[in-house]
Amino acid sequence: MKRQLITTFAVAVCCSLFSWAAALPVIPAPALVTEGEGYFEFDGSTKFAVENVEQLDVARLFTSRFGESAGFVPAIEIGGDGDVVFATDATLPAEGYKLDVSTGGISIKAADTAGFFYALQTLRQLLPAAIDGSEYAPGTRWQVPVMQVEDSPRFGYRSLMVDVARYFMPKNELLKLIDIAAMLKINKLHLHLVDDTGWRIEIKRYPKLMQVGAWRMHRDEVFPARPNQRPGEVPNEGGFYTQGDIREIVAYAADRQIEVIPEIEMPAHTSSSLAAYPELACPVVDKPITVLPGGGGKNTQIIYCAGNDSVFAFLQNVLDEVMALFPSKYMHLGGDEAVKTYWGICPRCKARMEAEHIDNLEDMQGYFMKRMSDYVRSKGKIPMGWDELTNHELPEGMVIYGWRGFGEAATKAAAQGHKFIMTPARVLYFIRYQGPQWFEPYTYFGNITLKDVYEYEPIRQNWKPEYADLLMGVQASMWTEFCRSEADVHHQLFPRLLAAAEVAWCSRGEKDWQGFLHRADAVLPHLQAMGIEYARSMYNIDHKLTPVGDGKVQVEMSCIRPDVEIRYTTDGTDPVAKSKLYKEPFKVKKATVVKAVTFRGGEQMGQVLTLDVAFNKATGREVTSNVANDYVLTNGLRGSDRHSDFEWAGWYAKDGSFVLDLGKRTSIKRIVLGCINNSSMGVHIPAEIKLSVSSDNKTFKPLATKAYSHEEVFRTRTAIEDAVFDGLSASARYVKVEFTNPGKCPKGDFKEGQDTWVYFDEVIVE
Ligand code: ACM
Ligand code: ZN
Repeated sequence: MKRQLITTFAVAVCCSLFSWAAALPVIPAPALVTEGEGYFEFDGSTKFAVENVEQLDVARLFTSRFGESAGFVPAIEIGGDGDVVFATDATLPAEGYKLDVSTGGISIKAADTAGFFYALQTLRQLLPAAIDGSEYAPGTRWQVPVMQVEDSPRFGYRSLMVDVARYFMPKNELLKLIDIAAMLKINKLHLHLVDDTGWRIEIKRYPKLMQVGAWRMHRDEVFPARPNQRPGEVPNEGGFYTQGDIREIVAYAADRQIEVIPEIEMPAHTSSSLAAYPELACPVVDKPITVLPGGGGKNTQIIYCAGNDSVFAFLQNVLDEVMALFPSKYMHLGGDEAVKTYWGICPRCKARMEAEHIDNLEDMQGYFMKRMSDYVRSKGKIPMGWDELTNHELPEGMVIYGWRGFGEAATKAAAQGHKFIMTPARVLYFIRYQGPQWFEPYTYFGNITLKDVYEYEPIRQNWKPEYADLLMGVQASMWTEFCRSEADVHHQLFPRLLAAAEVAWCSRGEKDWQGFLHRADAVLPHLQAMGIEYARSMYNIDHKLTPVGDGKVQVEMSCIRPDVEIRYTTDGTDPVAKSKLYKEPFKVKKATVVKAVTFRGGEQMGQVLTLDVAFNKATGREVTSNVANDYVLTNGLRGSDRHSDFEWAGWYAKDGSFVLDLGKRTSIKRIVLGCINNSSMGVHIPAEIKLSVSSDNKTFKPLATKAYSHEEVFRTRTAIEDAVFDGLSASARYVKVEFTNPGKCPKGDFKEGQDTWVYFDEVIVE
């Protein structure tokens, strides 16, 4: 009988595996699931039988959840009988588990404590979401479906990085994140404890790290636009974790099977420690060193002096305290984005280079990192660092985090036999926009949608097979430059962390985006029960308006969720469930306000997108240039004051031009060019704009010129600044716009010495 049952189970696993794996509302999706009939119900008489104290602790974390919401707490006993029975099975993979739920009981098998913990996280997600709340929920049936699950992770390294240096996250907020990460079977928390913006860990030997390094000036501006501390200002924003806090965080995480990995940045990104101990910077630094409220400009070039032995002594002493606090076998040493301007002119650094026969500044960083990583190894820990460490000889045993672009630099480390982790900025940096930018809080760079994260496959086709063996796993990196509150962090993290957890846990295979969304929809209420407001960006509408060339504009809309309808109006009213259904791109040929929003089952799901399509003589006409998205110039739609919103066409570090074809000879009285200034991002209006006209697109006749003063070009602000050419009198088919790049950002500018961008969003011809 028993044998018969097992055979049936095996067949069932094979046959129904895919649909069930997709259907069981659990994230990350368990590897193998077979369905059954009915439910097991937890109640006040439910008893857990475990084998040892470790299992008891794991079980207690689970049973205690019932306390507030269910009004009972299941009993747990070591040995004996129970309804939920733990049994060690050493044949199962690390962190894996087998779960057998019947109406009469639950059997959990695992080889290690983590496996038991993860089995319970699966059950936790299958219980009503109220299990994660603190409100009494009478009448709730605390049921989980009858099923069999066999599950284990793809990667042993499944991580969340939290930047507590930009946004100092209070301890309780961090504990909440740990609990959610654990529910998603994430097993590493990388704490970015140090940056230019703050030092966040108590180091008893160096009290000024806490007195000075942990505090900066509050600024209302967004991160890149925040001025540095001015003379006389007293820093008023910040904080740090005491060593007691760190012990509590580490223990809380360990209880949830999460290893906390500390990162102490060096030799750059550390104005915080240098503000506290300026003698550790190169002696040639000739300005006050302060903790930076924001981007910092050239002050970020102030880094530890590599020629000063006191720097290494300081860092060793700091690491001694840090490594004693964190039981992790890893110690992250940073190593990213070190601008070595001062090293190049510092007599101490020069003397070091001579003594050590180092002939370039990259190798000088190699020397620095090797010295510190040798120290870490001498203490029995494994050093880790960002992928810039592949720019020089890699210190022995160093684990590399691939972050720039798609993180490919890490494969340079793999080629030398180093282990590595993927946290590519293009996919797993949750600082980036997660949806149509007009609806999102202001942040940096491009978009990484929930779908982008879900579809990420860390192992690239062009890799040598041995690289895959060295890949430890993946990490979602929550950089917090733009966060000012817990809610800001939650908005950026959720739901994208669910997708990252899935990438880290689930084996490589067919992706099922819709299946993932269904499961995410079931898991997100658990987050809500914990008071998390997750982003609903996945319900917002992306648009693409393209000039068709005949004076018409094509309107295309899309949503990353396939299970919603887009409904829209063209009469200025907000769409309702019965408004026109968007089925395919359509054309408009006169001024039109398109309003669109997603619906599901008659319920509005996203925010209303307003496309204010304005028509002038250039709208819908063709533009020729050397940038890919020049179609935005005549699509009738203005950009926002975010030059990254995909409504702006940009030229970097060089002069540029484009030609507008009005389709036929046209009278021209006025031309407006939409320009933008975002000084904190090195975006400026052109130094000069020249207009000329032609009837054959060959011979052009000058029409008008506009030159801007240095002060006008480099104004410190973010604003749309149109270039208006009034009083024109011409008749032509072609208009050429030539513009001069303003050159490098001037002294004192946010981006001093850096090349500039010039952007246009629209050409308006009247
Ligand atoms: C990094 O994002 N600078 C590691
Ligand atoms: Zn120096």
